[in-house]
Amino acid sequence: MGNPFRTQSPGVGEEVLDLGCGCGFDVFFAALLVGLTGRAVGVDLTPEMLTWPRRHAKSMRNVQFEEADLTLPFADSSFNLASSNGVLNLVPDKKTALQEVHRVLRPGGRFVAADLLVIETIPEDVLSDADAWST
Ligand SMILES: C[S@@+](CC[C@H](N)C(=O)[O-])C[C@H]1O[C@@H](n2cnc3c(N)ncnc32)[C@H](O)[C@@H]1O
Repeated sequence: MGNPFRTQSPGVGEEVLDLGCGCGFDVFFAALLVGLTGRAVGVDLTPEMLTWPRRHAKSMRNVQFEEADLTLPFADSSFNLASSNGVLNLVPDKKTALQEVHRVLRPGGRFVAADLLVIETIPEDVLSDADAWST
């Protein structure tokens, strides 16, 4: 994984949303940066991924984990910053996912992502090989 906060760090007091948070590493890191006046929220569609971070977030007031697809269970304009680390490449409907990110960001909000980038044409036999997607 990369560091989605390399170019845009969460600031003190900001509300941050991490899409596809997995074990929550970026959420805990964001929570340290926003402090107790801010909030760091992770969403993931795989319930098993949320077990570990939820257990470790119990004593933290500014951390929250929600089980959700990228149809986000948040009101419009809820966050200052949204992040994604190695998730968008897994999402088939990227347009809808990005529209959701835009919806939950406040005016002037930022979106940061670390992900795979395709810079050359991938052969059809690789695209249609399920094993190639997971190795
Ligand atoms: C490669 S892992 C990255 C986890 C984490 N962001 C990190 O950097 O360690 C991808 C994560 O995205 C989640 N995920 C994939 N598609 C998703 C979707 N449509 N909605 C929410 N989470 C999704 C998976 O359950 C998995 O935990």
